[in-house]
Amino acid sequence: MSNASGSPPSGFHRRAFIAGAAGSALVPMTARAATQDASAPAPQDPALPIDVTLRVNGQDKRLSLDARTTVLDALREHLKLTGSKKGCDHGQCGACTVLIGDRRVVSCLTLALAAEGQEITTIEGLATNDRLHPMQQAFVDNDAFQCGYCTPGQIMSAIACVKEGHAGTDADIREYMSGNICRCAAYPNIVAAVKQAAPEIMKG
Ligand code: FES
Ligand code: FES
Repeated sequence: MSNASGSPPSGFHRRAFIAGAAGSALVPMTARAATQDASAPAPQDPALPIDVTLRVNGQDKRLSLDARTTVLDALREHLKLTGSKKGCDHGQCGACTVLIGDRRVVSCLTLALAAEGQEITTIEGLATNDRLHPMQQAFVDNDAFQCGYCTPGQIMSAIACVKEGHAGTDADIREYMSGNICRCAAYPNIVAAVKQAAPEIMKG
C-alpha cells in the first residue's frame, strides 16, 4: 500500500489501470485471441498506486493509493484524520460513518476511488472556528456518549438522519439511527440530542 507522498510509477495512469482490469476480467472469453496477439500490452498490476484527489472538508487532497483503499483508510492512514473510527471494518457498526454529499456512508465499505470528485465531510469538518456544529453541541448538552468511540459516527449519521426528515419522532430516530451501534448504550441520550439539534439544522 502506498502513502500520500508516494509517486506512481512513470507512465501509469488510472485509465490504463481500468483498461488493464477490464482486460483481466475478459480473459476467459478472449483467451484464444490473447494467445494469438503476443504484442498486446500486459495488464497493469492492481496493487500499483493510483493518483486520486479527494475533497475532504472543503479541501482537495492529492493521494497516491492502492486501488483497493477504502475512504476510511484514506482518511485515517493517509490523511491522519482519525476522528472517523474503525469498529468492525465490515459495515456493521457505523463507527466509520462520514457524509459524501448529503448521504451518510460507512466509509469502511466505500472505495476511495469511488468518492473522487465528491464532497466528503468528516467529524473534523463540522465545527466552524470555535463554534461546535449544533449536533456536536447537542451531544455534549445531553451527555450522549460515554467512552466516545461511536460518537463521531453517531453525530455524522444524526445530521443525515435529520436532513432526511427522519427525526420527527423518537421511534423514527431510533429506527433511522439503528445502523450506529453504541456499546455503552447511550441510546436515550442520543435520541434526546438528535431532537435538540433537529430544529436548528433544519432551519439551516
Ligand atoms: S467500521 Fe465501518 S461499519 Fe463498522
Ligand atoms: S459511547 Fe461508548 S460505544 Fe457509544
